[in-house]
Amino acid sequence: MTYHVGVISGDGIGPEIVAEAKKVLDRVGKKYGHEFLYTEILMGGCSIDATGVPLTDEAIAAAQASDAVLMGSIGGNTSTSPWYKLSPELRPEAGLLKLRKSLNLFANLRPAYLYEELKAACPLRDDIIGSGFDMMIMRELTGGLYFGARETKDVDGVMTAVDTLSYNENEIRRIAKRGFDIAMKRRKKVTSVDKANVLDSSRLWRKIVEEVAADYPEVTYEHMLVDNCAMQLVKDPKQFDVILTENMFGDILSDEASMVTGSIGMLASASLNDTKFGLYEPSGGSAPDIAGKGIANPIATILSAAMMLRYSFDLDKEADAIENAVKLVLKEGFRTIDIMPQDSREHNEHTQAAGMCTEEFKNAVGNKIVQVGTKEMGSLIADRV
Ligand code: IPM
Ligand code: MG
Repeated sequence: MTYHVGVISGDGIGPEIVAEAKKVLDRVGKKYGHEFLYTEILMGGCSIDATGVPLTDEAIAAAQASDAVLMGSIGGNTSTSPWYKLSPELRPEAGLLKLRKSLNLFANLRPAYLYEELKAACPLRDDIIGSGFDMMIMRELTGGLYFGARETKDVDGVMTAVDTLSYNENEIRRIAKRGFDIAMKRRKKVTSVDKANVLDSSRLWRKIVEEVAADYPEVTYEHMLVDNCAMQLVKDPKQFDVILTENMFGDILSDEASMVTGSIGMLASASLNDTKFGLYEPSGGSAPDIAGKGIANPIATILSAAMMLRYSFDLDKEADAIENAVKLVLKEGFRTIDIMPQDSREHNEHTQAAGMCTEEFKNAVGNKIVQVGTKEMGSLIADRV
């Protein structure tokens, strides 16, 4: 079968990591008899440079015409890049928000999973890690504060900025259903996160989630306030299966959840609408500081391609093959720099705190760790699908 994949390589490390995901997809295609045809789509800073805007109507149409879109990352250094001198609606991120809205990608799935092999890179204590954790953040992606009316104006001589947070019951119901559906395929637990002790939008969120929950008697659900959830994620991440939450809370909590796994370079994400269409992207950013150096971790993008096979194309066997290849490469001891013990700041902090020297760390993860670059990592995974 032939699949049309729109590809947004984007900015920073985007083109490098997307190239490796395509390499892995092509190998999967060869092995399992599929053809992936790619259409490059401009979005973000590269689109600003080429067209003056972060996302053109032609780019939206090209994304719409694809079976699914695979994305690298967009944006640059917010203090130094000329893109951030432009007005807000012309900056790289505005392109991504516009694409999500135009394609109605309201359901954002962000898995956070602790790889057995990377346990030593996890910044949490061993007794907290226990047997590891595996959660899915279901973030509402096209409503709330990021899409409400906003303005900055002079009110009686005082500069005043307003952002609007609004949700209607339909927006809440459709994402809640997605959260419960996915819980049914996992450990059947939903933690709905809100700020119902303060916000009206959260009180409506809670009411609608309760209505939806009534249709899923097998799923255990609870409500948790967002500030408590931020704390629980580092105190006891094992307790979570599906975290269901609104746009901004999900943005913040998903970064936190990814950090407790040890590396944001490992985590994939999917943004879905009501059809089989999806936009698949790594959870991490464009990392302009390491762009072009050939050291970025391509695993999150490769795993995003696996999610694309699973959710948009129903190719479960092929998705399993990619996920298993990633696990195997890690087991064999191959690491990009961000998940290496040496030179990694998180690791150094961790080992210092734990009083662990590099030798001990090596033993902890299997005694043979080899640092590889972006391309080698892609090839190692492609060879094992
Ligand atoms: C993310 C990013 C985006 C968001 C930005 C780049 C607009 O942080 O995907 O989490 O906030 O949604
Ligand atoms: Mg974010």
